[in-house]
Amino acid sequence: MSKYNVLIVGSGGREHALAWKVKQSQHVQNVFVAPGNAGTGMDATNVDLDPADHDAVIQFAKENNVGLVIVGPEAPLVAGLVDALTDAGLRAFGPSKAASELEGSKVFCKNLLRSADIPTADYRTFRSADDASRYIKDRFSEPTDPVNVVVKADGLAAGKGVVVCDTRSEALEAIDRIAARKEFGAAGKELIIEERLTGPEVSVLAITDGETIVTLPPAQDHKPANDGDTGPNTGGMGAYCPAPVLDEETLAKVESSILVPVVHAMKRSRRPFKGVLYAGLMLTPAGPKVLEFNVRFGDPECQPLLMRLKTDLVEVMQAVVDGKLEETGPLEFDPRPAICVVMASEGYPADYEKGHAITGIESADKMENVKVFHAGTQRVDGEVVNTGGRVLGVTAMGDSISAAKLQAYKAVREIRWQGAWCRKDISDKALATAAKA
Ligand code: AMP
Ligand code: GLY
Repeated sequence: MSKYNVLIVGSGGREHALAWKVKQSQHVQNVFVAPGNAGTGMDATNVDLDPADHDAVIQFAKENNVGLVIVGPEAPLVAGLVDALTDAGLRAFGPSKAASELEGSKVFCKNLLRSADIPTADYRTFRSADDASRYIKDRFSEPTDPVNVVVKADGLAAGKGVVVCDTRSEALEAIDRIAARKEFGAAGKELIIEERLTGPEVSVLAITDGETIVTLPPAQDHKPANDGDTGPNTGGMGAYCPAPVLDEETLAKVESSILVPVVHAMKRSRRPFKGVLYAGLMLTPAGPKVLEFNVRFGDPECQPLLMRLKTDLVEVMQAVVDGKLEETGPLEFDPRPAICVVMASEGYPADYEKGHAITGIESADKMENVKVFHAGTQRVDGEVVNTGGRVLGVTAMGDSISAAKLQAYKAVREIRWQGAWCRKDISDKALATAAKA
């Protein structure tokens, strides 16, 4: 069997986890990550490429026996990197530009969900700040009236373009920021006002070639910065998998009433979806409803998911590229749960301090069933320093969720840099679910 090289595009914790997993494939010789971080530089080879420069990515892949390109983040997917690679005769895993609209435009996503009768919050779309404000003022007459709406910018806004509103003035302020002051730039050209839902949140990811759908075990993210789900929203402060909040029966319902119809609707609208389909769900009293779709692995959900995955990921991805997922057997997962605790820079999610030397990663990595995935790190003069808001994803597996949690936090305590912090309650929601049951 001749081996080939794999190129992973991106530089976060998700891409380090992908590189670590892909490296274990029997088909793979070298793993390149563009541009990568200090962690991918150790487990793979970093290449200094700008993912926005499609020609440079294509040229590198052609010159380096790259048999598969995996595009990690949403921005290059929405920009059409997979189309460019495919047109150049290369094999790329991830949805096309047209299919990535599912994440790139919340208006496209909501309209598709509505037309396919898929459960999601009621909504209206607006093209002007004035129309949106009038709608809010007509529905809620007093400035202090309690409201139950969520205001969302249409386009990509790094998770920041969503405002859950308690009062009328908060809703009007959100509309002003998104549609009048254009804080999120072109992402705010259109906006959505939707009904506010309640219930626990869960992420269900599936791999699909546009025909066959392979659902992965449910995971739970922790978006707010502080313990007890308080404080400002972040990219995700930790995740664990599987999430017991979604029982077998409800998962089957998610497949039949959400995942299958979305994949069919995408195919019908001539945007066949190939890649990772990520449903962000709220388990409402009326059943699971879609909050959003992402078109890639979640970060940090990817880290615990891939730590548990036993199947050769590259074989699965190649089957997706070939449209032959049907021929792949069921995925095999380690039965033990895994959790990922994100260690962040002082100040994150607002402005943060960079450039502090990090110690203890090696000793944490040596612990049993632990892997430290890097996100915002770089190697400078031989030292690993923090360069991003989310810096490391300390990931551990254990016989139970509490054992995995204990091991992950033990590893966290090995690691130090000035201002490092993390949430202390990652996965406690699982224990709360268990206590309820
Ligand atoms: P999104 O990026 O659309 O997933 O929104 C980010 C976060 O905002 C979600 O994880 C939810 O916590 C919250 N959110 C979004 N839409 C709603 C909704 N309709 N009702 C309640 N919370 C929501
Ligand atoms: N963990 C949330 C995301 O990747 O969007």
